[in-house]
Amino acid sequence: MADLPAGVRHIPMCLSWDEQRALLSDIRSVVKHAPLYTPTMPRTGKPMSVRMTNCGALGWVTDQSGGYRYQSSHPVTGQAWPKMPQRLLDLWQEFANYPLPPEACLINFYTGSAKMGLHQDKDEDNFEAPVLSISLGDDCLFRIGGTNRNEPTQSIKLHSGDVLLLQGESRLAYHGVDRIYPDTSTLLSKGGRINLTLRRVTKADEVSDLELAKQH
Ligand code: SIN
Ligand code: MN
Repeated sequence: MADLPAGVRHIPMCLSWDEQRALLSDIRSVVKHAPLYTPTMPRTGKPMSVRMTNCGALGWVTDQSGGYRYQSSHPVTGQAWPKMPQRLLDLWQEFANYPLPPEACLINFYTGSAKMGLHQDKDEDNFEAPVLSISLGDDCLFRIGGTNRNEPTQSIKLHSGDVLLLQGESRLAYHGVDRIYPDTSTLLSKGGRINLTLRRVTKADEVSDLELAKQH
């Protein structure tokens, strides 16, 4: 199999079964307070096939009128996003190689024929920090390319418990999910795939000295 593009780090089976169960239980309590909703595409208003919610200080959202953006509250309930579970902060600390904590965790839930088109993660002000993504539940076919849409792509299967980092020259790499493979994992009792994407949104120099002091 071809090497992944420079800056893409895939850590298969990074989380043990027990760690996956514990993380899933954290995510279930997030979803209880911040229910999954169906986001819509900018301009067209076309519904996405993936349902979403967030935890952390900021959440990534999209709708017809406002487009792609980060905001501090759930677009349906108007409530602040639930806090980021400690387990996610710990994974970031272990793998992100970045001094400040993540501000946003996007929770994507894929069932049936849900997929995600090829895109870049570029709604953040901070491209120094990596994107750290965790897969739970059914396998998926993940596609990754270069920083131009027309560059060749390659596909890898992501399994439950895998961690994937987009960093350095691949921080802005095009990526997407072509499909999930139903019934390939028993982690979620009703099947489906959850993807958690941790990101730093603001730049380090926008952070107050106070926050920096807290981190070190
Ligand atoms: C995303 O790019 O937001 C999701 C990627 C994934 O589901 O693995
Ligand atoms: Mn993405």
